[in-house]
Amino acid sequence: MSKFTDLKYWLLILTIFTDEGLVEGKTTIKARNKAIIKTIKVGNAEIIDCYVIYRQPSLNHPLLCNDTIQLTPSSYPKGTKLDNLGTLQLTQNWQKYGSCPEGTIPIRRQGKNYNPTLLRKHHYPGLSPYENLVTSQSNDTTENYRVHEHTIIGVHGNFRGAQAKINLWNPFTETREMSISQICIEASKYKDLNTIEVGWHVYQDIYGDHQTRFFIYWTTDGYLSTGCYNLLCNGFVHTSSNISLGCNFTEVSTFHGDQKDATFSIQKDRSSGHWWVHVQGTPIGYYPSSLFTELSKTATSAKWGRHTSTQMGSGHFPSEGGLKTSSYFNWVQVFDENNMIKDPKNVKKRVTKPNYYNLEIDSDHYRTNGYGFYYGGPGYNDKCQ
Ligand SMILES: *[C@@H]1O[C@H](CO)[C@@H](O)[C@H](O)[C@H]1NC(C)=O
Ligand SMILES: *[C@@H]1O[C@H](CO)[C@@H](O)[C@H](O)[C@H]1NC(C)=O
Ligand SMILES: *[C@@H]1O[C@H](CO)[C@@H](O)[C@H](O)[C@H]1NC(C)=O
Ligand SMILES: *[C@@H]1O[C@H](CO)[C@@H](O)[C@H](O)[C@H]1NC(C)=O
Repeated sequence: MSKFTDLKYWLLILTIFTDEGLVEGKTTIKARNKAIIKTIKVGNAEIIDCYVIYRQPSLNHPLLCNDTIQLTPSSYPKGTKLDNLGTLQLTQNWQKYGSCPEGTIPIRRQGKNYNPTLLRKHHYPGLSPYENLVTSQSNDTTENYRVHEHTIIGVHGNFRGAQAKINLWNPFTETREMSISQICIEASKYKDLNTIEVGWHVYQDIYGDHQTRFFIYWTTDGYLSTGCYNLLCNGFVHTSSNISLGCNFTEVSTFHGDQKDATFSIQKDRSSGHWWVHVQGTPIGYYPSSLFTELSKTATSAKWGRHTSTQMGSGHFPSEGGLKTSSYFNWVQVFDENNMIKDPKNVKKRVTKPNYYNLEIDSDHYRTNGYGFYYGGPGYNDKCQ
């Protein structure tokens, strides 16, 4: 009898102990307040919260509870040229209003305009039958979406990442339209499709404006229920104290003027297996390997290109004159299984509506700019409708 009481006593102590542990890990309001040590007001429209790096919301993701944070990548692909980055100065608009202290990370607070039902809607109807099916089944806001056009190149193989120097523009977009310029690595397909996507976009539904912003995206089930942009859901572990996701840079290219481009890359770390995201050679953070089903190993395809329902890139066709007129990707590269940087081989090109948009491989400038292409077009116009 007394043995039995002893056991009860122990259970009670154990329960209290476990409960306390759990409260620490949850994003209760109290925990959030403890996590944010500074708030920066950016003009009238935006707010940046500086989170203690070890208390960032992503660490509450159930798959990441046993992970320790990796603060810097342990490896770079062999052949990385840090002296060959883009012309973009790596500064963001919010930095004019303040900075996050060491040991904290800047997280953009989501504004009122943000519409969560559109989170998983940006993706390639037409690229796979499965995604077509998904799109036609959910009719909540589909009427606001015109056909999703894209001009992309892609390769298959086994990759530990991909990179490209991407030209930055501020294309015109109408209400409810988006414009995306990105690198994407993938593994598997349909409902097992895992992707990591990095680049710039203009997306009013998320930000309430038409700024050109740095973004990342992920999914592990073909855009069905997992994944999101930036830090709108838990997953990405942010490490940079000065570059924030979803914010704009201080420069973009101008027609017939200065061209701004930035090197974006996704690379699988040698020791941890995490997928690190870099901009201009600066590590921003990583998608933990444990988040993924298929991408816990290598990627099986890489894609570079544009997705939009409206004006693409600069709004001008590649045939109108190339550099300074249409948009480009150059130094398009993959990181192979041995972590060597390689030009893409057996590249497949896909353009959904060549009358509206086109893509031309840039063979002229190969020696100076590496593998690359021009793309662009005015989108829906009188001539083509
Ligand atoms: C974390 O570790 C515990 C104890 O080793 C284990 O039971 C649990 O499955 C782990 N969780 C994850 C998500 O790996
Ligand atoms: C689609 O629209 C119909 C009619 O408006 C509605 O009854 C149905 O519930 C909607 N389905 C979804 C998945 O939203
Ligand atoms: C941003 O932070 C990184 C370290 O996190 C540092 O190496 C880099 O110089 C910083 N850049 C700027 C513009 O402050
Ligand atoms: C970045 O955003 C701010 C605030 O909306 C804006 O004033 C600025 O022009 C933007 N910068 C660029 C390069 O678009």
